[in-house]
Formats: sequence, C-alpha cells, structure tokens
Amino acid sequence: MRIITEPTEMQSIAESLRLQHQFIGVVMTMGALHEGHLSLVRLAKKKAGIVIMTVFVNPTQFGPDEDFERYPRPFEQDSALARSAGVDYLFAPSAEQMYPEGFSTSIDPGPMAGSFEGRLRPGHFNGVATVVVKLLGITRPHFAVFGEKDAQQVAVIRRVVADLNIGTVIEGAPIAREGDGLATSSRNIYLSFEERQQATALFRAIRHAQQETESGRNDLAAIAKEAESIVHAESAARTDYLCFVEEDTFEPAADAIPGKAYRLIMAVRLGSTRLIDNWKYVCGEDRGS
Ligand code: PAF
Repeated sequence: MRIITEPTEMQSIAESLRLQHQFIGVVMTMGALHEGHLSLVRLAKKKAGIVIMTVFVNPTQFGPDEDFERYPRPFEQDSALARSAGVDYLFAPSAEQMYPEGFSTSIDPGPMAGSFEGRLRPGHFNGVATVVVKLLGITRPHFAVFGEKDAQQVAVIRRVVADLNIGTVIEGAPIAREGDGLATSSRNIYLSFEERQQATALFRAIRHAQQETESGRNDLAAIAKEAESIVHAESAARTDYLCFVEEDTFEPAADAIPGKAYRLIMAVRLGSTRLIDNWKYVCGEDRGS
C-alpha cells in the first residue's frame, strides 16, 4: 500500500492507472477506521482492480460547535488497518493541501441539504458535497462506495454527481446490523445496558413498516406514525424525526406509488446518544433492502 499526501501526485497516479485500464474504486473516510469502513473496502475489492482509500477529517463539514479539533486521528492504526484490508493507495492530505489559500468554492446541493440531518447541521452537506467532489477529482474512480446508514449523505452525493455530470457510479453499501437488528455504530458503546435494550425499538419500528407495506398498505405517513409510537413506547427514546421520504429527493412521502422508491428514515435520542437508521422500500417489490 502506498501512502500519498499530495493531491497532484494522487491525481497523476490515478490518471496513469486509468490509462493502464485499471478499474478504480474509492472508499472515502475521515479516519478512525472501524469494521464498517473495512466492510466498504471489502465491497470495493470485489469489483475494483485498484482500491483507493481517502482519510481526511474535512473541516468544512463541521459546524462551529462540533468536535473538529477533538475528532480522533489515529493515523498509524488507520494505515495498518487499511493495509491489512487490501487498500492499494491511501490518500491522506492535510487541510492546507485540500484548501490552500484562495480556495473559495462551495457546492450547494439544494433543498435536500437543508432537511433532516441538514436542518440540524446547517452547512454540513455543503461541506460534504464540496470535499467529495474534490476527492473524486483527485482519485478519478470509476465507482465510490458509501455506507447506506448515512442515507441522506448518499442521496446528496448521488444528486451532486448526477447534476454535475461527474460520471462516477455511487454504490450504497448495506447497513451492518447486530444480532437483534441494531445498526452497528461506533456510538452504540455509549448506550447504558437499559438504553441498549431500548435501542432495539429502531429495528422493531423498521420491521413494523416492512410488515405493513408487505401486507399491501400504501399509507406511508400513517405507517410511520405507528412505527414512531413503537420507539416512543421506550422510556429513554425520543425521535428527532421518523418518516418516509422519497428516495431521490428526501421529500416527505404520504402515500406510496407503485414502482417508486422510498426510505423510512429515523434519528432517535436515547439518553445522550443519538442513533440513526433507515430502510429502503420500493413500492410493489416483494421486499426492500
Ligand atoms: O462519511 C464520511 O466519513 C464523510 O462525510 C466523507 C464522505 C468521508 C466526507 O468527508
């Protein structure tokens, strides 16, 4: 595995790999790698001849009150993990290399960036969109893999890549779950024993929506209300949001139309821990994913 820090060097390596007809996949991260990131690498390696991982704690996607300075940066550990997962190139630039003096562009992904996670973190998705477009320009991949747990991030990136004719295929990687259905997250360790038990309500809410849509119901808003009451039955749980949205636009959805894709999205606070989860539903298909 080669470690590259200079954007122009990474770009010319990627360009020559393309000239050699290599099929390039990229996995973008902010470091502090865990099993979730490594599963994205494994997915990328199934298709790609060359896998590039980017490790960059992107300042422009953090709000003023967020933990940019304190964000963990265990670079030695990350590079060992990336190497053992089979990454070919690790691109790890500094903030100065990514945003040199005079840098002034910011990509506005439109209305989708201002709802749900974007409403709670103003400017966050502009920062994500800008850095992702930069990293795609530097690593020149044929495809990029992002975890579907951050479904709104994936939707924003798909929108931007389509709108700007970037041509990279954006692959969503399925959500990894624990035995009882709780989506794996580095935040799960903050849950107390009782909160951990109550946290299964998120997956039970998803199951309820699955069963109701499979039974032929299409009143998504009503199903989401029922799903929300499953979460609210737990004493420590409070929802920031829980609703069905249209898959492409993240606009709230009331009733399902055959052939259209939707996503049940939720952010739930359990004590001081905030968990997110989601489930994709394609109306008229036997089963969502
Ligand atoms: O999901 C992340 O880790 C970040 O938002 C990303 C996509 C690497 C951009 O900084």
